[in-house]
Amino acid sequence: MRRSTPGAACLILFLSETFLHERRHMNTPSLTLTANSAGRPVLEDPVDVLVSKMTLEEKIGQLQQVDASADPLPDDLIEGVRAGRIGSVINLADTDGCNRLQRVAVVESRLSIPLLMGRDVIHGFRTIFPIPLGQAASWNPDLVREAARIAALEARSQGVHWTFAPMIDISRDPRWGRIAESLGEDPFLTGLLGSAMVEGFQTENLSGHGAILACAKHFVGYGASESGRDYSATNIPANELRNIYLEPFRKVVEAGVATLMTSFSDLDGIPATANGALVNGVLRQEWGFGGLVVSDWNAVNELIVHGLCEDPRSAAAEAVLAGVDMEMAGDAYARNIARLIDERVLSMSLIDTMVSRVLRLKQKLGLFERPYTDSAAFAPLVSDNALGVAFQAAVESLVLLKNDGPVLPLRAADISSIAVIGPLADAPHEQMGTWVFDGQKSDTVTPLQALRQQFSGKIDVNYAPGLETSRSRSYHLFEAALEAAKKSDVALVFLGEESILSGEAHSRADITLPGAQSELLAQIKALGKPVVTVVLAGRPLVLTENLPHTDSLLYAWHPGTMGGPAIAAVLFGDQSPRGKLPATFPKSVGQIPIYYNHKNTGRPPNPSDMILIDDIEVGARQTSLGMSAFYLDDGSDPLFPFGFGLSYGEFELSNLELSRPAIGLRDRLKVKVTVKNTGANFGFETVQLYIRDIAASLTRPVKELKAFRRVGLEPGQTELVEFELGADDLSFYRRDGSFGSEPGKFCLWVATQSDAGLQAEFTLGA
Ligand code: NOJ
Repeated sequence: MRRSTPGAACLILFLSETFLHERRHMNTPSLTLTANSAGRPVLEDPVDVLVSKMTLEEKIGQLQQVDASADPLPDDLIEGVRAGRIGSVINLADTDGCNRLQRVAVVESRLSIPLLMGRDVIHGFRTIFPIPLGQAASWNPDLVREAARIAALEARSQGVHWTFAPMIDISRDPRWGRIAESLGEDPFLTGLLGSAMVEGFQTENLSGHGAILACAKHFVGYGASESGRDYSATNIPANELRNIYLEPFRKVVEAGVATLMTSFSDLDGIPATANGALVNGVLRQEWGFGGLVVSDWNAVNELIVHGLCEDPRSAAAEAVLAGVDMEMAGDAYARNIARLIDERVLSMSLIDTMVSRVLRLKQKLGLFERPYTDSAAFAPLVSDNALGVAFQAAVESLVLLKNDGPVLPLRAADISSIAVIGPLADAPHEQMGTWVFDGQKSDTVTPLQALRQQFSGKIDVNYAPGLETSRSRSYHLFEAALEAAKKSDVALVFLGEESILSGEAHSRADITLPGAQSELLAQIKALGKPVVTVVLAGRPLVLTENLPHTDSLLYAWHPGTMGGPAIAAVLFGDQSPRGKLPATFPKSVGQIPIYYNHKNTGRPPNPSDMILIDDIEVGARQTSLGMSAFYLDDGSDPLFPFGFGLSYGEFELSNLELSRPAIGLRDRLKVKVTVKNTGANFGFETVQLYIRDIAASLTRPVKELKAFRRVGLEPGQTELVEFELGADDLSFYRRDGSFGSEPGKFCLWVATQSDAGLQAEFTLGA
């Protein structure tokens, strides 16, 4: 919106209908000067003025987001826009189409209110970055912010004003297909990276060049869907809801996120879309969120299917009264709000408030002044800059999970041939991952393409996919793959999941490698050649059976447009791997949920009395087995813990020092540690700081990540890493429901992964 001082407002004073008519064509709700009852001039909020001019039908229209994916657009949609019955559309994302429909809103509708165009821009628009879970493995908020910035610029250049990201659902179940869209299992990391995404999408000023609205979703608890089955019910104890699931939302609200989406899921009997205690209560009243809340797709009508409401009328009432301003792709609001007002179930002032929230966002985006998109004002899609950031994001998302030998990095000078094997070595569509609407496989560079390009004429690249797709069970391509491996110095095997196997509604009960991939890997390993496995997948997979069949394992998630060059650069040592796991990798599906920040129990796993299944004597008595929290078959540890990730360097932490043994509520504890690269190669290490509140009014997790810092060190080089902690970092929602810290003893670890580290203790005074 144009900022106007009261003086300037006098100049643009408009009250007459004539002026309003002109304004229609200026499309600018400006500050209005009117007189109050004492005859004093007062400035009127332009949004209030606009709302006061709207009919009820036009108001309801602003609360309606309609699917505009059909091509050509249906006449009734265009007519709805013309009549002011539609305030927002979803899934229109080409400049001409957006401008054409916008023109109907701006020129042909009575009040000329521009449309808000929404689109799921989840990990890139046309240039595709790694899936969010992969981006989270970078532990690099600056890079995540930059990727979101580029996604916003590309999307805005095509007419999009609003993305439905970041998804900050804490995800502890890799069976859940949507873990791919998440930032992992940790509230601190998720809050930090989610905020960085919000900043990248929205920039500092929503009316700035290429800014789009972010939408934090799904409020709240969707990640706790029972058994990882999508859309399933969730049951989350109050203190876990506060301290784990709500925490990242609190952070992104602080970071200024403009919109939130409610979750599809049922939370303890109240589906999130009807959960007034959370939306109106926690989000708006407690946290002071002043932005817009949108439902998920048709989720208002789904309140009936959940069994909360009998009909669309009561579903609309529940959602409106809970605080959901806009209905996405459903008609419960459009068909029922007027009637609910007549019946006095809803008040006009509530509807006005909801409408104002929509209009204010349009105003902040500058849509009243600049409703159309001029693509020429933007860099072209898939620019060199965008590809550069996509490359870096892919590099930093790669997590090295195993490196015996070490086989990696490969030395190009010592190798004359490589076998490139596997259904994901050359699968441009698959490596983009889930939630890609606008990315194109023709832009994507696969590992095979990158390796061929890089080593053409220098190293023989023997390609044989071995399997047609990740799900294929037929062995008919095995022989060629084994031949390729036999005639090569090293076998690079690209396995994993196709993009369709993760994402919304794509949960899996068995998360081992699908199809005959495990057999393919085992047969290649049996040849006795060095084997490097690169896994491209949308979730942590269970790789227990595969680990013995590979010397090195590089986890690439779905790495996006530049995944191929990024993988090639890391395999051959042009880039050092530095990713750290944002989610625990289970040994088996039976261990799920398994996450690092669990509670201790009264009988935590005790390695000294843990007897595993093969060691149990026949006829053993119950009490001769360990009486602690573990599985007889899978023990208590995961395959790979949260925060784990190897590097081409080797790192040692020493000299952990705390500035003092005790701090007061206003003090800062300084923590210092020396990091040394004791290996033979340059490498990166992410030093992580965890704490544990030893005794509190509510039991606290065994560890909680509170800070981290990445260093890059040459062999032999050391660096002093420093952290600071204060009482605010030790705060949580306590037994009485209030937020704050509690005096007492704390454990602290400085570590390179969540299950190890140097340990110290300190006390927080009263
Ligand atoms: C349903 C998904 O749950 C949500 O995340 C997404 O933004 C909407 N559909 C729109 O596509």
